[in-house]
Amino acid sequence: MWFSAFFAILPLAPLASSARVPQDLFQSSFDVSTHLGNLSPYAKAPAAPGLQETLPEDCTVDQVMLMQRHGSRYPLVSELVFITNLVSKLAGSSAAIKKAELPSSMEFLKDGYTSTLGHDDLTAPGRLQLFDHGVSFALKYPHLKASTLLAGLQDRVVESAQWFANGYFGRAWGGLNATTLQTIPEDNVTISWITPMNTCENWQYDYGNNATITWGNVYLPPIAKRLNKLLPGVKLSTDDVHGALYACAYDLAAHGVSPWCGVFTESEIEDFDYELDLLMDGAFGYNLPGSMGPILGSLFVDKLIERFTNKTGDSQSLYLEFGHDTTIDMALTALGLAKDSPKLSATGPARLNRKWRTSHQVPFAAQMTWEKFSCTASFKGPQIRLLLNESPLALSLCKHMDKELGSCSLDDFVSANSFSTRISWGDATWNATCGNAGF
Ligand SMILES: *[C@@H]1O[C@H](CO)[C@@H](O)[C@H](O)[C@H]1NC(C)=O
Ligand SMILES: *[C@@H]1O[C@H](CO)[C@@H](O)[C@H](O)[C@H]1NC(C)=O
Ligand SMILES: *[C@@H]1O[C@H](CO)[C@@H](O)[C@H](O)[C@H]1NC(C)=O
Ligand SMILES: *[C@@H]1O[C@H](CO)[C@@H](O)[C@H](O)[C@H]1NC(C)=O
Ligand SMILES: *[C@@H]1O[C@H](CO)[C@@H](O)[C@H](O)[C@H]1NC(C)=O
Repeated sequence: MWFSAFFAILPLAPLASSARVPQDLFQSSFDVSTHLGNLSPYAKAPAAPGLQETLPEDCTVDQVMLMQRHGSRYPLVSELVFITNLVSKLAGSSAAIKKAELPSSMEFLKDGYTSTLGHDDLTAPGRLQLFDHGVSFALKYPHLKASTLLAGLQDRVVESAQWFANGYFGRAWGGLNATTLQTIPEDNVTISWITPMNTCENWQYDYGNNATITWGNVYLPPIAKRLNKLLPGVKLSTDDVHGALYACAYDLAAHGVSPWCGVFTESEIEDFDYELDLLMDGAFGYNLPGSMGPILGSLFVDKLIERFTNKTGDSQSLYLEFGHDTTIDMALTALGLAKDSPKLSATGPARLNRKWRTSHQVPFAAQMTWEKFSCTASFKGPQIRLLLNESPLALSLCKHMDKELGSCSLDDFVSANSFSTRISWGDATWNATCGNAGF
């Protein structure tokens, strides 16, 4: 019984008990779910002002390369620990909480807050995001045929590719062990444009993580102070506050709602959003030391150019590939897109007009879609454009970008990326930045 098995694994009870989202702090149009950095659920990116989303009638998309992030997932073990510690703290303080006079947004705490979140794996909303994307892709590019998918070899990425395949091909695609689904290891010996940092010995997650610790020391204490005033006797630590922010993001990722999201003010959520941006910028973007960010991202850009120029003579018309937020962030960094000047600062304040916005760039189930197109009249020769989460992102790196479409000619794009095309894995430039003594 496929259906009963399916429903048996749905977390129905937690869904019901957390299905209240107090909204009193959010009278405005502020939407928490689009301010949770790379932990935001999928949403189409805001359209860039002035950019046209559809191609002129005389143009045809000839080739597409999709880099698809996995869908919503449970917290990583390193994040989950903040939530479970918060849950214990609250359970141990239930008497004090019952006595507290709480705003309506926090009344849920009187019934106790428990959590059934798992870790690492794709969630039910994550499955739906990927299935939807598979269906949409089939409808958007009916004339382009894919015969295979390629996924980074990590469970949530592979499962994402499977749900996409179900939507894209239907059940005929062959299922779990079909040769249709190919994988590429995500380890420290496999050179991959999906996980380039893994083969760069000098790369460290700490580059981003240390920035978030610095920023956490700035923005979390005032929130702890505010909440502890409302909850006398509970003594929430800054780590507990961090846990509550994660609970907001991950309840949303797993259940679609969270009582915690209504506990925070708009600016508190903005500060958490900034933390997530700092993490990605520091570990997979412009705040990596020297040129490490663009060098790592060059592997993706080179693969794109190799395929769109049919350099090896065997290029396919459609590539469906599955990876990570990090894959997309490093690619943007190699392209010089979403770049802030001056760089984002780990001591804040959160710059609200920043260009690096992981909630728009790499929400769960993010899609970096590259189109090569040709036109009978509008343009001469092959053109290229980028749709990031279904909205065009202007290819400002090109010399002669088309201002209406944000596109440029493929030749222009190739010239504009000479930084990337001059680099290959294990050459002098790569080694000078990455070290790679152990290879
Ligand atoms: C897929 O292959 C694995 C290992 O070869 C096997 O254990 C599993 O049962 C197979 N699954 C399906 C659905 O055929
Ligand atoms: C991160 O911070 C730790 C502790 O302060 C320090 O030892 C380490 O060198 C830092 N790492 C990076 C990459 O900045
Ligand atoms: C790449 O070139 C080969 C050989 O000319 C051709 O068969 C193939 O269709 C080309 N691929 C694309 C996507 O144009
Ligand atoms: C870069 O490092 C790799 C691995 O140690 C080595 O095989 C390669 O020769 C080096 N490249 C250059 C240009 O020195
Ligand atoms: C790769 O990882 C393995 C095991 O995790 C480790 O033993 C090895 O030293 C690593 N190799 C490199 C080149 O970093």
